[in-house]
Amino acid sequence: MSKQKTIAGFSKLSKRGKIKWIVENFFKDPENVMHELVSYWHPAEDQQKVLDGFSENTISNFPMPFGVAPNFKINNKVYLIPMVIEESSVVAAASSAAKFWFDRGGFKAEIIDMKKVGQVHFKWRGNKEKLHNIFEDLKKTLIENAKPLTLNMEKRGGGIDTIELLDLTDKEPDLFQLKAGFYTCDSMGANFINSVLEDFAHTLQLYIMECNDFVETEKEVQVIMSILSNYTPDNLVRVTVSCPIKKLLDPKLIPDPELFASKFYTAVRIAHIDPFRATTHNKGIYNGIDSVVLATGNDFRAIEACGHTYAARSGQYSSLTNCKIENGHFTFWLDLPLAVGTVGGLTNAHPIAKRSLEMLGNPGAKELMMIIGTVGLAQNFAAVRSLVTTGIQKGHMKLHLSNILTQFKATEPEMKIIIDYFSDKVVSYSEVRKKLDQIRVTSNKG
Ligand code: MEV
Repeated sequence: MSKQKTIAGFSKLSKRGKIKWIVENFFKDPENVMHELVSYWHPAEDQQKVLDGFSENTISNFPMPFGVAPNFKINNKVYLIPMVIEESSVVAAASSAAKFWFDRGGFKAEIIDMKKVGQVHFKWRGNKEKLHNIFEDLKKTLIENAKPLTLNMEKRGGGIDTIELLDLTDKEPDLFQLKAGFYTCDSMGANFINSVLEDFAHTLQLYIMECNDFVETEKEVQVIMSILSNYTPDNLVRVTVSCPIKKLLDPKLIPDPELFASKFYTAVRIAHIDPFRATTHNKGIYNGIDSVVLATGNDFRAIEACGHTYAARSGQYSSLTNCKIENGHFTFWLDLPLAVGTVGGLTNAHPIAKRSLEMLGNPGAKELMMIIGTVGLAQNFAAVRSLVTTGIQKGHMKLHLSNILTQFKATEPEMKIIIDYFSDKVVSYSEVRKKLDQIRVTSNKG
């Protein structure tokens, strides 16, 4: 039977119909694949419907580990942190950093601001001075016309904060922008902001069309697009850990706190100086951030895009964390924009995201920002601590080893022998296979 790689009306097929077409045309063993995909369906049909509804053309679920990191002390409150991540050693590293700082005062977190940003990009040709002259009145009209959309948000303490007119004609002919600031309380606010922006765009066109200050050739506004910006530098959290250098002592990992503090400081400096290192440094931060963002049903693409732009705000991509050593004191901190929500979106619709928020004590957006920022700082601390002491591979490969053994379907006794064997050796996929083959040959002979 010839394979059919394209299809019309795929989205109209039933879920089983979709899977049937996929397995028959893209796999060598259709029956097994069909069985496997169906085996990941949720046993409760209504629950599965909820999951299917989050996206389109869903054929099954894609499992990811849902773990927890205990003992996080943030502003003197203790949290158990939910984390969804596929990379081994991330949760272990976060837990280890949490434990380390638990005994040294914990994490201090504060919200700097919660402002979000949205833009209406438009083209207009005419006397710019007139546009600037009418802007204050236009602004009032924009706010007034958007009232039906903003009223509820205002009741909750949010709404439109600022509207600016930006002249970008020196960069692109006739290009202008309405740049607005918003407060969206406990929601991430994307839908709210986008609806208000589209309303602004409509009002802007009508206002200019009807305004007598403009001559006929000035009455047309070409709206290019209206959309929130995921870059929210003023939606900022700061998280800090700090202690006297001598208190960094940890008999196993940090026998010499002065040396450790100095190497740690230099490692962070390197991430400030060199974008190659900064990228990996910040990636480690997002190992922690993304896993909590995912676990709580927030938008990790938005969070990452924002963080990386923030990391490049000086014109050079740089570290998101900072370190200072002053008067025998070690201080390490993270400033990070984090537009997260605890209401709306997936946060309450996804059954496990809902449980994650419950595990955290049902925080509002501010508290969730402080929690997520803390995990980012903890993750970075754990990574850099390993890098400047034992090296990253020791802990990493230990966990990697158990994944390799699971892949090879190693038995409990085989696992024990192999883990012992590799306790002082470098782990690699091929070396593990070689050792396992040896054990199996020997035990077969016996
Ligand atoms: C690995 O996922 C993350 C690290 O490379 C981060 C770092 O180098 O700081 C360990």
